[in-house]
Amino acid sequence: MKALWDTLLQPESLEDALRLRQLYGDSARLVAGGTDVIVELSRGSGPTSTIIDLSRVRELEGISFDADTIVLGALTTHNDVIANADCRNDLLPLAEACVEIGAPQLRTRATIVGNIVTASPANDTVSALITLDAAVRLRSVSGIRTMPVEQFITGFRSTALAADELVVAIVIPRLKPDQRGLYSKLGLRRAQAISVIHFAVVLGFDGCKVSSARIALGCVGPTVIRTSAAEAFLIGKDLSDPVVREAGALAAAEAAPIDDVRGSGRYRSRTLARSMARALAELRLDREPRDWLQHPVLLDSGREEVDPSPSFAGTIATSVNGQETILPVEAAQTTLLNAMRDSLQLTGSKEGCAEGECGACTMWIDGQAVMSCLVPAAQVHGRRVVTIEGLAERSDQDVHPLQQAFVDQAAVQCGYCIPGMVMAGAKLLDEHPDPTLEQIQVGLSGNLCRCTGYAKIIDAVQQVAANGG
Ligand code: FES
Repeated sequence: MKALWDTLLQPESLEDALRLRQLYGDSARLVAGGTDVIVELSRGSGPTSTIIDLSRVRELEGISFDADTIVLGALTTHNDVIANADCRNDLLPLAEACVEIGAPQLRTRATIVGNIVTASPANDTVSALITLDAAVRLRSVSGIRTMPVEQFITGFRSTALAADELVVAIVIPRLKPDQRGLYSKLGLRRAQAISVIHFAVVLGFDGCKVSSARIALGCVGPTVIRTSAAEAFLIGKDLSDPVVREAGALAAAEAAPIDDVRGSGRYRSRTLARSMARALAELRLDREPRDWLQHPVLLDSGREEVDPSPSFAGTIATSVNGQETILPVEAAQTTLLNAMRDSLQLTGSKEGCAEGECGACTMWIDGQAVMSCLVPAAQVHGRRVVTIEGLAERSDQDVHPLQQAFVDQAAVQCGYCIPGMVMAGAKLLDEHPDPTLEQIQVGLSGNLCRCTGYAKIIDAVQQVAANGG
C-alpha cells in the first residue's frame, strides 16, 4: 500500500488543533476536505510526514446567521452552501460559484476555506467572496484577527496565514435589498472544468442607477483582482447597452491574462469584455431564480446520523458494507480508495485519475458520495462506508435496481467507470427518485466514461426512475 504520509493527527477541539498548529507550523500539512492536499501528495508535490486532519474539530463546523452576516465555519463545504436557503438567497454569487466547482462528489468534501487558502487565481469562490466583501477569521494560540479575503490573498498561491494560525471562519455580509449580484464562469466543458475566466459582480442600486460596484476577475492575473476602472465608471449610471459594453471593455483593459493550455491571453480578454457586458445587462432587473436553486443535486442527502465515535488513535475502526472492520495500521497513511482496495481487497472501486476528475472511485461515507481517492482513510474512523460491493445489500436484492438497469440497457462497454457511475447514480436516485434529464446529467457529471457510453447510462438511470426506484 502506497504511504502518502507517515503520521495523521486528528484533533477534536479547536484548542488541540491550535496547539498542534503551533507545534508543527508549516512542516505539517493541514487537511479538511483534502481535495487539494491529497492531489498534491499523490503527485509527490509538497510532501509531508505529518498531516493535521481538522475534519473532527466541532468548533469549525456549521453555518451561523444574524440579520446582517452569514458566518461559514472552516469546515463548510461547497455543498453546504448550495444546500442552504439563506446562502442561496443572500450570498447568491457565492452559491453560483460553489455549484461550478468540480462535481457533486467533490463538493461534498471540498471546503470554501480550502478554496481560499490555496490562493489560485482560478479558484471560483474567491471572486465571489471578494465582491461580497467577505473576511476571514484567523486564530492562533495567542489571539484572533480578521482580515478581508482581498487582503488575505497576497500573491499567486500565497496568503497572509501565519505558520501558527488557522482560518476558523469566513464572515460574509448578506446582500442588501438594494444589491444584486452574480457569478459567471467560462470553462472548456460544463462540469469538472478549471476556469478559463471567471468573475463576480455585486452592484448596489439607487432606482435604476448604480450606487456601488464591486467586480472581481479570476484567471486574468496572478491573483483574483478587482477592476477599479469598471467599478468607478459604473457609479451613477444606469445599465444601458453602451454603459455595459464600456464597463466590459474597461474590465478587459485592466486584466493581464496569460496564454496557457486553457486559452490565450487575447481570447480571455475578448471573452471577458463580452461576458462582462452580458452579465451587467442581466443585473438591470431582479433575475429569475435559476432552476438548480430549487432542487439542487448534492449526492449528499440522506446522510445517516452516526454515534459519536471514539477518538482516532492510529487504528481505523469503521463499518464497511455493514461489517464492523479494523483496518491495518498502515491504512492510516493513505487514501480511502487505497485502503479499501489494498487492505480489504474491495477492488470494485477503481483508480482512474487519483485527482478527483473521473469518479471511478466513488463510494459513500455516511450516505454521502465522495471521491475516495481524495479522502484520507482515517476520516472514516467511526463512520459507515459503502462500496460498490455493498450496494446491493442496501436494496435487499441480489443486485441493486440500477445495476440491473445497466444490464438491461447494455450500458457497459469496457466497464472501468461503471462502479463509480452506479454509486453516483444510485445516490442520485436516493435523493431525486424521479430526476429530470438535467439532474441526471449533473448527478453523473463527476463520472467520466472513456468509451463515451453516456446515452445508455442515462437510459439506465431513467429506467429505474420510471419503475419507481
Ligand atoms: Fe478518484 Fe478519478 S476521481 S480515481
